[in-house]
Amino acid sequence: MVRSVEWKEGKVKILDQSLLPEEVSYIECDHYEMVADAIRTLKIRGAPAIGIASAMGLALAAQDIKAKDFDTIYRELKKVADVFISTRPTAVNIKWAMQRMLKLLKNHRQESIERLKELLVEESKNILEEDIEVNRAIGVWGAQFIRDGDTVLTHCNAGALATGGYGTATAPILVAKEQGKRVRVIADETRPVLQGARLTTWELMQAGIDVTLITDNSAGALMRKGEIDLCIVGTDRTVLNGDVANKIGTYTVAVLAKENGIPFYVAAPLSSIDPTIPSGELIPIEERPPEEVTTIKGRRIAPEGVKVINLAFDVTPARYITAIITEKGAFRPQDIRKLFMEGINLSEIRL
Ligand code: MRU
Repeated sequence: MVRSVEWKEGKVKILDQSLLPEEVSYIECDHYEMVADAIRTLKIRGAPAIGIASAMGLALAAQDIKAKDFDTIYRELKKVADVFISTRPTAVNIKWAMQRMLKLLKNHRQESIERLKELLVEESKNILEEDIEVNRAIGVWGAQFIRDGDTVLTHCNAGALATGGYGTATAPILVAKEQGKRVRVIADETRPVLQGARLTTWELMQAGIDVTLITDNSAGALMRKGEIDLCIVGTDRTVLNGDVANKIGTYTVAVLAKENGIPFYVAAPLSSIDPTIPSGELIPIEERPPEEVTTIKGRRIAPEGVKVINLAFDVTPARYITAIITEKGAFRPQDIRKLFMEGINLSEIRL
């Protein structure tokens, strides 16, 4: 299984996804700023993966702190957490991971400083291992929507590379294959950073999945020809009303799917659901440098000085989403709010 990030001998080891598929090369981060920079520059990307990397980055930062009292350490690590949260504003997993790490610190404030540093490393490793388990569970709940012989369209990369392992949108596909179903995947190339072309095809081919690459603007034509049975995508932030932020172009795919009567599923670990935001238009949308659009591998493809809009994500309204698949089951988007209610019986709202 591909490992996008891991804690290795006191360092954070990151697979440099910006070089894939040509080169499989790792960065060994020995300072938290290196981890933050790897996140900003998309060497590691995908909401759960950058949450895990941030947690490990925070644990790394803790090792360098010289202060001996809890309050100073907490204050310094809170500042580091804010650095990570600012690296990529749409993915809520970073905030989620930072809150979890800081809460652990607070809950163990009576421990020695050396023990606190160990606990932070252990917690970041737990976040990684739990993510893999969560993805397996998403796979098991999601595989019920894939029939033998189905073709699944996916957008961007919500696979092993985007997570601790196994992927979110890819998990139902991998489980369906384990169940003996024949599954074919159509991967949108996903301009401008080409996560579909460079990453999704690469990892699915390694996993022995039948995958075909298309340009983003081919999705509608293939749907119309009846070649797509269902869509499964990931999410950077899902909110209480079931609206979902994911890679730019996801909204287009969802509208096309509805027009063509094709089910559209979102694989969303609970760590990607933000219960503090009521509705999609309040999700912060990251804008990225214009060069991602005006150049390909350093070669200019548009006139110097042209104006560019480069939104990294879009919001798909809940009405386009057939179901949101979490580790606790698949739910109608309008039932997402209920996941956060005390004492709710999930089996009553599960699909
Ligand atoms: O800009 P990226 O490559 O980080 O965008 C990633 C996505 O849009 C994924 O679909 C999302 O993070 C879910 S990953 C399981």
